[in-house]
Amino acid sequence: MNDSSAPRETLIEALDVQKIFASKSERLQVLSGTSLRVYAGEIIGIVGSSGAGKSTFLHILGGLDHPTSGKVLFRGKDVFAQGDGFLEMFRNRHVGFVFQAFNLMNDFTALENAMFPALIGGMDRKTAREKAERLLCEVGLKDRLRHRPGELSGGEGQRVALARGLVNQPDLLLADEPTGNLDAHSSDALMQLIRNLNKQFNQTFVIVTHSQKIARKLDRVFQLHDGKLDPIAKEVII
Ligand SMILES: Nc1ncnc2c1ncn2[C@@H]1O[C@H](COP(=O)(O)OP(=O)(O)O)[C@@H](O)[C@H]1O
Ligand SMILES: [Mg+2]
Repeated sequence: MNDSSAPRETLIEALDVQKIFASKSERLQVLSGTSLRVYAGEIIGIVGSSGAGKSTFLHILGGLDHPTSGKVLFRGKDVFAQGDGFLEMFRNRHVGFVFQAFNLMNDFTALENAMFPALIGGMDRKTAREKAERLLCEVGLKDRLRHRPGELSGGEGQRVALARGLVNQPDLLLADEPTGNLDAHSSDALMQLIRNLNKQFNQTFVIVTHSQKIARKLDRVFQLHDGKLDPIAKEVII
């Protein structure tokens, strides 16, 4: 977290984001004027019932999906108004994703999986390998570099996904229920790791979680309800 006396830098901001999924027969308004300001170095939690639109919002915040209306400003720049080249660079360089289902590639080792976004971004193999290795060591997987996802436990797989999300040193890491498939012990360990990365590198996180226990430990928590995000006091999270 930032020193409380220092001015806080706004890293990313969602402004009045609306999202409507429309097909011929249906019109589903998932987000109806959702706004959120994320300061550099904080860990934000988003809670809400299943189907509330948490994943949809996270995807829009990370430039993976377009809003129907509204804006996402990254360091003041409208990410959807700069052209596809910018959006691609924003997604690859500035944002990292950790998905609930890990989305690891089964035919590749932990190391190769973690290297992947770096290679996509044009980094040379050697540097990508070094960075991925360092991160995998950081998350406690020094002895699992050559294991494939099928040879890892759930907690280990999720830690590979975390290393992959961080390999391009993103300004913002978005995590969609990262502990959703983990037992209590692995879940605590992953959250401890996230807090350490936050302290060590001032890494900013936005974390969608079902767990009240996790939400209580984050810096600020918002609830997505009726298509809008409202701040909730941590004391009321039971
Ligand atoms: N691509 C899509 N097309 C149509 N409806 C969608 C699409 N993605 C999500 N939805 C719907 O939007 C709602 C919110 O989904 P989601 O953001 O995944 O919720 P949450 O992550 O909070 O569980 C759900 O009702 C879901 O069925
Ligand atoms: Mg979801």
